[in-house]
Amino acid sequence: MAAEVLDALRPRPNGRYADGTIGGGGHAAIILAASSPTGWLYGCDRDGDAVDAARARLAEFAGRFEIRRGTFAGLADWVPEASCDGVLLDLGVSSPQLDCAGRGFSFLLDGPLDMRMDTRQPVRAADLVNGAGAAELAGLFWELGGEREARRFANAIVRARERQPFETTRQLAGLIETLSPRRGRRAHPATKIFQALRMAVNDEMGSLKQGLEAAVKTLKPGGRLAVITFHSLEDRLVKDFGRARSRDYTFAGGVDVPELREPRLPELKWVTSKAIRPGAAELADNPRSRSAQLRVLEKS
Ligand SMILES: C[S@@+](CC[C@H](N)C(=O)[O-])C[C@H]1O[C@@H](n2cnc3c(N)ncnc32)[C@H](O)[C@@H]1O
Repeated sequence: MAAEVLDALRPRPNGRYADGTIGGGGHAAIILAASSPTGWLYGCDRDGDAVDAARARLAEFAGRFEIRRGTFAGLADWVPEASCDGVLLDLGVSSPQLDCAGRGFSFLLDGPLDMRMDTRQPVRAADLVNGAGAAELAGLFWELGGEREARRFANAIVRARERQPFETTRQLAGLIETLSPRRGRRAHPATKIFQALRMAVNDEMGSLKQGLEAAVKTLKPGGRLAVITFHSLEDRLVKDFGRARSRDYTFAGGVDVPELREPRLPELKWVTSKAIRPGAAELADNPRSRSAQLRVLEKS
């Protein structure tokens, strides 16, 4: 969603931007190009390979960026407060992560059951699959994957691991395939299980909550936050965050009683009321973008 991100962030010379999910540096490169010759970019990614790839990709902009390895939840710890004209969070996994069997994100490739974006973290997907109780696994599959057969799959995993612990993506995908044959369905039956495990291993919802707070802290008044989400849980979190911060009143105790509202200046406003979706050309070029939604907020 390169054009849409440019529209949202409106990069200009002397502008300062942050890309909290720098990945291979694709969006970062267009932000730096559009803010030439003096725009500045702070970038981070949890994934060490992504950080190396982004540094290499952005070599032509040397002297105009700082990239650190780490989560965007910690963006405000090193990016100066109220310094940025725009912040981008392009959530989820990258194509290099999905396409590398050794990272364990894909049920289509055989690799270790890993799924850590930051390989310095101790807990891999295999640790959850082999160590969590059936109720905990079922809760994960339902809450983070929306998997209707969460309990049946979790019970089968617990039985199967007694014979042989899960170590590979194929082992897990194979078990789900036998429990739920595909029978012409478009989506692979293990899609939701893999999504739930990935989100749990990387605490994606917790990081997003903290990351939205951190991003707003780093924005100047008038600065914009652009967030690209890939599934409904993330999108709902962004929508709820934007709604709460764009209200012109507060209320105590977590219940909105109109008589008890306290007026205030909203901290943020929506730039577009609806999510922006990729156009037909992008969908044809990159089918993985089909579930992407961009939401844009502006700091008051
Ligand atoms: C969809 S890709 C981003 C692609 C990037 N916009 C580009 O143009 O190349 C998502 C990236 O976000 C990173 N990521 C996900 N959650 C993160 C977090 N909490 N903090 C930092 N990076 C994160 C992933 O490691 C991955 O590299």
